[in-house]
Amino acid sequence: MTARDVTADTMTDRGGLRLEQVCLRYADGDGEVVALDDVSLTVDPGEMVAVVGASGSGKSSLLAVAGAMRQPDSGHIYVGGTAVTGVPAKQRSTLRHDRVGFVFQGSNLLASLTALEQLELVGRIGRAPRAATRTKALALLEEVGLAAKAGRRPGQLSGGERQRVGIARALMADPAVLLVDEPTSALDHQRAIDIVSLLVEETHRHRIATLMVTHDRSLARLADRVIEMRDGRLEPAGAPSER
Ligand SMILES: Nc1ncnc2c1ncn2[C@@H]1O[C@H](COP(=O)(O)OP(=O)(O)OP(=O)(O)O)[C@@H](O)[C@H]1O
Ligand SMILES: [Mg+2]
Repeated sequence: MTARDVTADTMTDRGGLRLEQVCLRYADGDGEVVALDDVSLTVDPGEMVAVVGASGSGKSSLLAVAGAMRQPDSGHIYVGGTAVTGVPAKQRSTLRHDRVGFVFQGSNLLASLTALEQLELVGRIGRAPRAATRTKALALLEEVGLAAKAGRRPGQLSGGERQRVGIARALMADPAVLLVDEPTSALDHQRAIDIVSLLVEETHRHRIATLMVTHDRSLARLADRVIEMRDGRLEPAGAPSER
C-alpha cells in the first residue's frame, strides 16, 4: 500500500477508488464460488475504466464491493480516500449514499416523475436547499443534453434519453466514484457510443473515478483504460497507459 492512497484529508481531490487484495466468495450449495480472487485496482479521479470479461467472471461482484453494497471477505476498499471496509454498516451506507453514484442497465426512473423531479428527489434526500437543488438539476440536465426535456416523464423519453437522465441523477450527489453496469444494452450502437462518450466526458469534467462494465469491446475502448476479469481475477487488457 502506498501512502497517497489512504489519507483523505490530505487530498486535494476526491481520492478516486482503490481496492486492495479483495476477495469475495458466495456460498453455493455445499461449496462456494470465488467471485473475486485477490483483486487490486486503483481508479484515479477523472479516470474512466472499462471492465470486460465473460459472463460469470465477477464484473458485477466487483461493482458491488466497490460501491459498498457488499462487504468482501477480505481486503480493503477506499472510496474517495475513505475506507468502506472494516467500518460499521451505518457508516458504510452513509458513504455509499454520499460518495457513490450508480448507473445500471435499465435507467430505474420513477414513471410518475419528470426528468427534473427525478434529479430533485435525489437532491432533497440530501436535504439541500430547494432552489439550489433545482439550479443544480437543471445544470446537469443541460450537461447531458436534456435541458429542453426537463419536464418530460420517462414514458415520453427515448431509451437513450432515459439513460441520460439516469446519468444526470447519479451526478446529483457529487459522487467520488461512479459505477456503471451495462448502461447501453437496450440501445442501438450509435446511441450506445453517445452514452459511453457522455460518461467519459462527465467523468473527466467532474473528476470522478468511474468503473463501467460492458460486454462490448468497441465501447470499452472509449474508456481511458480497459481491464479484463477472468474467473474472479483481474488481468490487464488492451494497451493501458501506465499511470
Ligand atoms: N448471490 C450469489 N450467490 C451465489 N453465487 C453468485 C451470486 N452472485 C453471483 N454469483 C456467482 O459469482 C460469479 C460472479 O458473478 P457476477 O455476477 O459477478 O458475474 P458477471 O461477470 O457480472 O456476469 P454477467 O456478465 O453475466 O453479468 C458467478 O460464478 C456467479 O454465478
Ligand atoms: Mg453482471
